[in-house]
Amino acid sequence: MPLSELLEKLRARPLPKHVALIMDGNGRWAKARGLPRSEGHRQGALAAERLVRFLARERLVPYVTLFAFSTENWSRPREEVEFLFRLLEGLIREKLREFAEAGVRLRLLGDPAPLPARLRAAIEEAEKSTRGNDALHLAVALNFGGRWAVLEGVRRALAQGLAPDELKEETFRGLLPTAELPDPDFIIRTGGHMRLSNFFLWEAAYAELYFTPTLWPDFDEEAFTLALLDFQGRTRNFGRVIT
Ligand code: IPE
Ligand code: IPE
Ligand code: MG
Repeated sequence: MPLSELLEKLRARPLPKHVALIMDGNGRWAKARGLPRSEGHRQGALAAERLVRFLARERLVPYVTLFAFSTENWSRPREEVEFLFRLLEGLIREKLREFAEAGVRLRLLGDPAPLPARLRAAIEEAEKSTRGNDALHLAVALNFGGRWAVLEGVRRALAQGLAPDELKEETFRGLLPTAELPDPDFIIRTGGHMRLSNFFLWEAAYAELYFTPTLWPDFDEEAFTLALLDFQGRTRNFGRVIT
């Protein structure tokens, strides 16, 4: 079925509000072609760029989060980590204008402190200049870990001097680094591994999970649309009995 028909089908039913993507499989994509891992990351960045362009245009989902670098990814070789940061900085700088004009609002999700100053500056500029946009709320999870995020919430609660019985679920939700984002309804992981790798923990409580063997550089608009069609076929009980 052509993409236009798939999209028409998709729009006829409720869509998720927040889709989060674990972009995995760049290294294997490169290895399969006898290329260095860096080339896989380069193609992966192109795939991310394509998807953002598509989402800003089609307005299928208002919130999208891309998991780009985990708190555990620091244990990769230094050259790979540096390459990833440079790639990201270049992508932000080169595409900022286009994405800002397309109505994208960019947010960093993660601890910026250990990131290179140039990357931090590029992100800050992008956050500032896209603050007024709302066609697509794009969060880039960078130096992000689910455990870090929960701990951040705990730290903020302690800093505010909240008493134990004042700490309700909703109060705590508002203290998490993801406070401005709705919980993800749908988490997609490419690359075939069926795990969260310390991505959203608190926020993922009722997310539908989707695992595909497709490697991230090959994950295109059609693959994304097919994933959303799968989401629409699911029954979400939230603990209730649905009769
Ligand atoms: C990209 O895929 C994920 C990032 C951390 C940038 P990988 O680099 O993990 O690729 P694989 O899993 O080794 O194939
Ligand atoms: C998950 O991929 C993190 C990102 C996509 C940023 P990894 O490749 O780091 O996950 P593991 O190490 O296989 O669990
Ligand atoms: Mg991986």
